[in-house]
This record gives sequence, C-alpha cells and structure tokens, in this order.
Amino acid sequence: MATDPERAEVDDLDEEDSGGESAGAFVSRVPADVKRGTRTNALDIIFETAERDHEGFRHGALGAPRYGKTYHLIDVASQALDRGIADLLLLHDCKRLDVQYTEFGLEVVRVDRADLQSRPLNPEDPPVVVFHGAPAEGRKCQVEEVAALGLEQGRAGTGTLVLIDELYRGMKARQTWAGPSFAECLREGSSQRVSTAWTTQIPQSLPTEAMDLTETIAVFRLKRRSLRYARRMLELDADEEGARTVEIISALGRGEFILITDDGWNGLVYGPK
Ligand SMILES: Nc1ncnc2c1ncn2[C@@H]1O[C@H](COP(=O)(O)OP(=O)(O)OP(=O)(O)O)[C@@H](O)[C@H]1O
Ligand SMILES: [Mg+2]
Repeated sequence: MATDPERAEVDDLDEEDSGGESAGAFVSRVPADVKRGTRTNALDIIFETAERDHEGFRHGALGAPRYGKTYHLIDVASQALDRGIADLLLLHDCKRLDVQYTEFGLEVVRVDRADLQSRPLNPEDPPVVVFHGAPAEGRKCQVEEVAALGLEQGRAGTGTLVLIDELYRGMKARQTWAGPSFAECLREGSSQRVSTAWTTQIPQSLPTEAMDLTETIAVFRLKRRSLRYARRMLELDADEEGARTVEIISALGRGEFILITDDGWNGLVYGPK
C-alpha cells in the first residue's frame, strides 16, 4: 500500500489515465440543453460571501489532470487581489519544474520562507509571493510554512490568500496533514482574514475536512475512482438530481466546471470562457 502521497498520486493517476489522454478526450460532451455561465459569473459566486461580509473565502478545485484547475486558480488569485478581497497572495506552486503562476512576474518567486526573509519583496512588486522551492537543487517549500505565514499575516490584519496548488503536497500520508496550519486556515481563516484556495487531482487523498470546510468547490472533469469518491463526498448519489450532476461531470471538456456549494449544484456549467 502506498502511503507516500506522491507515490499514491502516481498510482492513482496510472489507474485513472491508463491508456493516456488523446487530444479528443478534452472535448466537451455536455448536452446542449444545459445552462451555461461565464468564468466571471462563477467568480461572483466564489467571492459572494467574502464580498458581502468582508471576510475570507474558501475555494477548492477538483479534476483530472490537464482539465484546467490551475488556469482557474490563477484567475481566482488575481481577481481576489483586484477585487480587494485579499491584500496579499501567498501561492504554493511547487508542482512542476517550471513556475505556473507567472501572472505576477518572476520577481515575486521565492524558494521558501527563509528565501523570502533574506530577499523581501520590492516595494514596486505586486503583493504576491510565489513559493516554488528550487527543484533543480532538490529544495522544497513546505505547505506548512506557507500556511503558517498566511495565518500570521491574517492575524496581523492583512487579508491574505493562501493558495496551494496540489494540496496533496500538504499531506504526510493519505488523508493526514503534514502540519496543522492549512487545516487551521480552513477552520478559522475566514474570521482571521485568511482566504484559502486549493486544487487536487485526487480528492480521495485529502482529509475529509478539506472538502467539508470549503465553501465553493469547482468540479472539473473527474474519472473513475475520483469520480466515485467525489460522488459520495458531495452527496451526489442520493437522488436523480445527483445522478444528473455526475453525468455532467463526466461530460465536461477542458476549462469547463460546475460549482458545488452548500446548496448543491445550481445546474450551470461554467467556462471555458
Ligand atoms: N478555460 C481555459 N481556456 C483556455 N485554456 C485553458 C483553459 N483551462 C485550461 N486551459 C489550458 O489547458 C492546459 C491544462 O490546464 P491546467 O494546467 O490548468 O490543468 P490542471 O487541471 O491544473 O492540470 P494538472 O492537474 O496536471 O495540474 C493549460 O495549457 C491551460 O492553459
Ligand atoms: Mg494544475
């Protein structure tokens, strides 16, 4: 049994993607009668309570590889800044060898917290730090240090977004956090001016509280094991409406997603534009 989360991810993805993805696999098969919304409409829902109550927001994105989670979160992060919901963005972007969150320029990329301490942001830089580790040197940045910094900043009064691209990197084993801080951001963050955003390809690897405490979840195309798991977690197997939701999730193309909130699915498919 794989307990190392990265190994577990590889195992899961081998299963999910056996045979590989052809370009055609990303094409939408959403029926024409399904109502559509734009990405901006989706952001309005994601930020709704934060904008109304002047608190943080909690958003997550699930989906199979390459269906658009990171693309979506780049939008969430930059809009959170533009709309004044967050004054500071702390982005954990350690998934690939290259930096994915390039939206804010490469001047704001740091290896880890120690690197940020020795090389603080320049006054002319946007209030964003992209933590990328130093993959070529084998140096990692822990999710814990970024989340802990987010809590400190929030408690000091700076509205801070802690964004973790691939939340399994914050686990030490399946469904077990490597440190306490990201869970604390989820539990208490919004009242302490900390917003959270995360992605995962493998929802079954996360502690259940990650899904339970997240206000809005963008569900991109899911397959097989992850779909079965999400169906249970999001309580989509109770009735006909749930069955319809699952059918749509399996038909989503690249860049398309639905939003699950406390009220369930609103019947709209968002994206790709
Ligand atoms: N709405 C969209 N419009 C145009 N291009 C998109 C859209 N969504 C995603 N893409 C493109 O599709 C590719 C895969 O997207 P992305 O990297 O966001 O996927 P992902 O779900 O984060 O994948 P992974 O799980 O491997 O991290 C990227 O090249 C991205 O630019
Ligand atoms: Mg991604």
